[in-house]
Amino acid sequence: MKTRTFLILIFSLLVVLFAGQPVQATDIEEQIDQLIEQMTIEEKVGQMTQVYFVGQPSRFEEQVRRGEISSFLGSVLSIMAPEERDELQRIAVEQSRLGIPLIFGFDVIHGYRTIFPIPVAMSCAWDPELIEQVAAMSAHEAAVEGVDWTFGPMIDIARDPRWGRIAEGYGEDTYLASIMAAAAVRGFQGSDLSSTASLAACLKHYVAYGAAEGGRDYNTSEVSKRTLRETYMPPFKAGVDAGAATLMSAFNEISGIPATGNLYTLTEVLKGEWAFDGFVVSDWHSIEEMIEHGFAEDSVEAVTKAIIAGVDMDMKDGLYFDELPGLVEQGKVSEELIDEAVRRILRIKFRKGLFTHPYIDPNLAETGPSNEEKLQKAREVAASSMVLLKNNGLLPLPKDLESIALIGPFVKNRSDLLGCWYAAGEAKDVVALLTGVKEKVSPLCDVLYAEGCDIDGTSTDSIPKAVAVAEQADAVILALGESRGMSGEARNRSSLDLPGVQQELVEAIYATGKPIVAVVFAGRPMSIGWLNENIDAILFAWHPGIQGGNAAADCLFGDFEPTGKLTTSFPRGVGQVPIYYNHKNTGRPGSSKYVDMPGTPLFPFGYGLSYTTFEYDNLQLSDTSIAPDESLTVTADVKNTGERASQEIVQLYICDIFGSVTRPVRELRGFKKITLEPQQKKTVSFVINPTEHLSIFNYNMDYVVEPGLFEVWVGPNSSEGLEAEFEIIEF
Ligand code: GLC
Repeated sequence: MKTRTFLILIFSLLVVLFAGQPVQATDIEEQIDQLIEQMTIEEKVGQMTQVYFVGQPSRFEEQVRRGEISSFLGSVLSIMAPEERDELQRIAVEQSRLGIPLIFGFDVIHGYRTIFPIPVAMSCAWDPELIEQVAAMSAHEAAVEGVDWTFGPMIDIARDPRWGRIAEGYGEDTYLASIMAAAAVRGFQGSDLSSTASLAACLKHYVAYGAAEGGRDYNTSEVSKRTLRETYMPPFKAGVDAGAATLMSAFNEISGIPATGNLYTLTEVLKGEWAFDGFVVSDWHSIEEMIEHGFAEDSVEAVTKAIIAGVDMDMKDGLYFDELPGLVEQGKVSEELIDEAVRRILRIKFRKGLFTHPYIDPNLAETGPSNEEKLQKAREVAASSMVLLKNNGLLPLPKDLESIALIGPFVKNRSDLLGCWYAAGEAKDVVALLTGVKEKVSPLCDVLYAEGCDIDGTSTDSIPKAVAVAEQADAVILALGESRGMSGEARNRSSLDLPGVQQELVEAIYATGKPIVAVVFAGRPMSIGWLNENIDAILFAWHPGIQGGNAAADCLFGDFEPTGKLTTSFPRGVGQVPIYYNHKNTGRPGSSKYVDMPGTPLFPFGYGLSYTTFEYDNLQLSDTSIAPDESLTVTADVKNTGERASQEIVQLYICDIFGSVTRPVRELRGFKKITLEPQQKKTVSFVINPTEHLSIFNYNMDYVVEPGLFEVWVGPNSSEGLEAEFEIIEF
């Protein structure tokens, strides 16, 4: 009897305790359902609203308390202090009606405070692991200061170096950029997105932003559906497959339909075919800009088209907040669409762990890489990103020269080595070339220097003094290039030449007859044909980040073997643009060119020298004809025929000789970075899997492997190598 009474008592107690309490949802989706059921329409559109942080957190407290803001976007112009971030988060979590946390976004593109080389430079290392390590280090550093979400990686394919944003992506090749995109997502997000050391990634700018006509940012992208699917979309698919939490819709129109109002790209492909379950944020004001595009009559139509197309969060222009409640009220936008957008946003906030740990993790600063480790990594990555374009034997320079002269506007320059999108990076942290060289050479070596001219000034007054300095030295290092403000967003150039009067400076120094190496710091490929014709050696250093001066000195004096290879074609002149390696054959191969300039680039995709030489030999195929469901192994011997150990980036290219549609003359389908001691030979092996490596969108836009003849190359770059043929036979 007693037991029965006891059980009744316990049961009654439980009923009283839990009556009316929602059952704690066991998983994220249930918790999201519960939240959405409770949310007002204002709170829902509040979750779809991202606000630009312009300092003074107090300005936003009321809106946060009312649940009208979902996310803050910081920028190099206004970096939110950690305490400000948690102050706003505390209001959202502890004072708003539903306690939904904020998510804080920032452009952590190639570093947060420790700035690494610009992404197009890093891609020249052809090393996905390096990309992943840089992203992971950058994520940790940014998370320590309260960032949850980065607007990166930027994975726009770029074939036009006039476009300032070529600096931010991974070059012209889809296959390589796809591999780098996935690596960056892995690095930013880590193995556990809810970790306080990770950042939610944001693949941008979806899609075909780099196809801007004339290389003019924001301009029209006129691309066929086939080019969209084969050239511009695959890096985004790779990023989605790697688990990217978010995407950003681009500013540009895609053949008449703005990317921010494009149902096909955002919903049919991204959310439908690819089953992406994160959320899409518009780019800055890109919803409102659809009015200027002429795609929307007013903000009501712009908002309607954006939400229907599949944009879930509105960056900065506030139109979702202003217009969506009324549109739902009038029945012009279904509340289901709003709920789906809110669901996606809440899903990422849950996955990021913001509901369980909304505030900055105080232990984070004590964990993760030390400052010394980060600087060492920045130095290694910068050196790995530099590309040796020419060397007639002058390099590596001896450290015990009696004297050496550094000449040019980049001798002492620090701020420009940060490159575009330098986040919280500071010039004071940058090692200039002069410092790197001084620390590298023997104490007995007299290091002279003169700037000679500005980066893009018109005055040649200081050139004579620079010539006089050069004449005193045993050898000259020219330090040339572009400022960081000449690349990045809206920073396009109509010329690819050295800016200002740098060419005059170069020719004046050349006239001294001294041995000369040119180090070029830039955010884009440049037409440096004169340097290539006349100067003894050229090291293309890009904008190499805070350890740039040390990394360049490591390469110049041989403490680091330059091994980088170009991921963008270098035009001979801007008149050649666009010029890229995976072009079509045309009906008159080799005839589509100019009467006043060869049709080939100055330096091709995949090109880069080292301090040794390599020989390719003995190309072998495991078979010369296979069915589409079989694989083919391609091997080649690579020998280091020089006196110095080094690394070689061995590349595999294919060509689908004919098909239901025309195909590029070459397509990268594999690469391997190998280390070889002097005189050492290795056999490098690649596996061609037709479905993975040979599928195309055929005449009917079906993604298939077409039987037929293929060429295959293994070589050091896209314009040379050992060649063979194989056939894909009908099933
Ligand atoms: C921009 C850029 C985008 C960036 C965003 C936030 O205009 O196009 O890449 O992430 O603003 O700063």
